[in-house]
Amino acid sequence: MSTTHPLEIAAARGQWHPQGAYLNTASYGLPPDCAWDAMQSALEDWRGGRTSWEHWGDSTEGARAAFAAIVGVEPETVATAATVSELLGLVAASLPDGTRVLAPDIDFTSVLFPFMAQAHRGVTVRLVAPAELADAVDGATDVVAFSAVQMATGEVCDIEAIRAAAEAHGAMTVVDATQGIGWLPLDAARFDVVVCHAYKWLMSPRGTAFMTVRPERLAGIVPAAAGWWAGDDPHTSYIGGPLRLADTARRLDSSPAWFSWVGTQPALELVLAIGVEAIHAHDVALANRFRDGLGLEPSDSAIVSAEVPGARERLEAAGIVAAERDGRMRASWHVYNTEGDVDAALDALVGA
Ligand SMILES: Cc1ncc(COP(=O)(O)O)c(C=O)c1O
Repeated sequence: MSTTHPLEIAAARGQWHPQGAYLNTASYGLPPDCAWDAMQSALEDWRGGRTSWEHWGDSTEGARAAFAAIVGVEPETVATAATVSELLGLVAASLPDGTRVLAPDIDFTSVLFPFMAQAHRGVTVRLVAPAELADAVDGATDVVAFSAVQMATGEVCDIEAIRAAAEAHGAMTVVDATQGIGWLPLDAARFDVVVCHAYKWLMSPRGTAFMTVRPERLAGIVPAAAGWWAGDDPHTSYIGGPLRLADTARRLDSSPAWFSWVGTQPALELVLAIGVEAIHAHDVALANRFRDGLGLEPSDSAIVSAEVPGARERLEAAGIVAAERDGRMRASWHVYNTEGDVDAALDALVGA
């Protein structure tokens, strides 16, 4: 779809079918019809044994290309797997002994544990508050690993300041943008490694994750998950040696969970057709309308975290799905949400 004629959000709205106000995309996103229908059709083919399987694998390539376009890199620099943690596990296991990692103290464990699990080799992880991350990068920092958007609080990191500090000290940058890509414009080429699971803001099934790798970093990551799919030509890589891996980031792939990828490709193509800038404007406007109703200052995030006594019970009673993290209400706003959802949530929380 041409970027000069993007698909309007209003025109795309029929793609989603939330049963009431769904404010929990930070937990999982809702599938658009294009993704749902593609999966149902593949599942029917599977049940009936009606087709061969190769085209299910081709969905991984379509999704890789769409993801690359969303974050502004070449598809050859994108690896795929089922989870963020396994992709970061490859990166962490490839770091030299004694590598010093810096990370936010409230970050998601799939960002922290892959590095912490390398402690037996002397890899250390220093934790600081997210807002202090850029200033904490120093000559004793080899890697800065952080979420672009914190999953618990919705806080958007000062991504550019962290990147600049890392560059100034020669540190590798590893960004988890799972809570951002889909609504937050991100230029992945500016970082050494960017990982993202697609089941939240990219509205895909669970089981599809991406990792962009800056070309000069690729040789330094051991393809420890390689099998036939990571071969230079997967379909002539079924049997026997020698080792013959792809020379692109696909050498880091793990073999695809077919049906999840069948759903992921159309979901990503829909995000591309609408455009991340438009989704960003829509999501943040709804989040800020909601913040305003709660008496909070506007922010730059699609995720609102607030201390609202009894929020969970009140929202539940109104049939509204949100989440609670660290004792605070977490409401996430995405492309299928409307101003009506904001008003319904405010009615439930602060209405008479
Ligand atoms: C920031 C972030 N990264 C990654 C994930 C998913 O991690 P994994 O793919 O290892 O299950 C989540 C899920 O909550 C998340 O919030």
